[in-house]
Amino acid sequence: MAHYMVRGGNPLSGEVEIAGAKNAALGILAASVMTNETVTIENIPDVSDIRAILNAIEEIGAHVERLDRHSCRINGSGISSQAVVDNDYVRKIRGSYYLIGSLLGRHRRAAVALPGGCNIGLRPIDQHIKGFRALGADVYLAPPGMVVAEAEVLRGAHIYMDVVSVGATINIMMASVMAEGTTTIENAAKEPHVVDTANFLNSMGANIKGAGTDVIRIKGVQKLHGTTYSIIPDQIEAGTFMFAAAATRGDVLIKNVIPKHLEFLTAKLTEIGCQIHESDDEVRVVATKRLGATNAKTLPYPGFPTDMQPQITVLLGLSNGVSIITESIFENRFKYVDELTKMGASIRVEGNTAIITGVGKYTGANLSSPDLRAGAALVIAALAAEGVSEIYDIHYIERGYEDFPEKLRGLGAEIERVDTDQDRRRFSFKIV
Ligand code: UD1
Repeated sequence: MAHYMVRGGNPLSGEVEIAGAKNAALGILAASVMTNETVTIENIPDVSDIRAILNAIEEIGAHVERLDRHSCRINGSGISSQAVVDNDYVRKIRGSYYLIGSLLGRHRRAAVALPGGCNIGLRPIDQHIKGFRALGADVYLAPPGMVVAEAEVLRGAHIYMDVVSVGATINIMMASVMAEGTTTIENAAKEPHVVDTANFLNSMGANIKGAGTDVIRIKGVQKLHGTTYSIIPDQIEAGTFMFAAAATRGDVLIKNVIPKHLEFLTAKLTEIGCQIHESDDEVRVVATKRLGATNAKTLPYPGFPTDMQPQITVLLGLSNGVSIITESIFENRFKYVDELTKMGASIRVEGNTAIITGVGKYTGANLSSPDLRAGAALVIAALAAEGVSEIYDIHYIERGYEDFPEKLRGLGAEIERVDTDQDRRRFSFKIV
């Protein structure tokens, strides 16, 4: 079975280039089929969640032309209003729910298999549905596990979100861009990928104001047109490399980032003793000594991102002192702690809080990735550990990290994706 083998102990050092943001790309690719004209999208990360959504829009009639590994041209004119989005991949990824908003907005009808995604909690879509209904859509569940949304006419509405939801904010934006009149989303999510999707829609002729604040106003337009757009860098991939640099006491220059999107992470790293050097589109993280303890609570942007919670826990597990991490977004996001314990970590989980007593070192172990970000965090732990680790269930990691082992090897890590016993022996032999 494909897995990663890692020999830990090398401080990471050098430069790494960050890919386009997966979560922004999911929204933008779904929105790209809201016009009959051709759109060109650049800086698309080459990861399995993105391949799944591209495949889903192709299957329902969009023409997708790959220009190079990170760009493609999409024409959605072949998609009919009776399109049904359903295949095994669609059911596994979370971002497929964006096709409900985009197809409803464009065709006044969407039928999409219920979203999957990482098993980190209940992850309901009631706020999405509440928004679609407020716009005048009839939304119901139909077998086998489909969400159907349809409307004669979509009319702008005032929508107050009960919880701050990235997915619901983006979905309601897409459903309302061509509605009659004005839609207001209050208590909207402010994440960079919400802003990026709004910018993309505006470049197609939409009229969206306020994305990035908690009130977004959308004036309906008649139709959208073609555009060329480049996706923002991935804030979570960048953060993962920042924390990997810190955990291995390395010195890494992370290129192609927007430092503003990383502020909460840089503040935490500085607080525990890292040196951070920022320039226009680069961040350098230097850690020369054992780091200190801190507390953090995950919150919607610009708070500490839940998608970086496992990575900071891994780092604090090696820091000097006791740290407390509180998860306030998802209820089931500490499953990886059992794996860290195998490596010698001292972490007690009580409800949505992890109490972390830093240990001097981790020891290599056989580990299983419980989800995407926790999988990446276990790789960080393995890179910092003494000895060899084997990390399984890497299909989770491959959903969101492009060329993860290759990029880490470029920084001096010993990590290999092994498929066969022969690969495994080769790796073991290499490191003896
Ligand atoms: C997105 C990201 C995910 C990230 C999360 C929070 C994508 C594809 N995924 O997920 O990586 O961890 O934002 O930053 O972009 N909620 C409801 N009802 C709803 C919707 C959400 O109660 O209708 C709750 C969720 O259970 C959760 C919270 O709201 O507790 C935030 O969820 P949301 O922001 O919607 O996350 P996702 O869009 O699923």
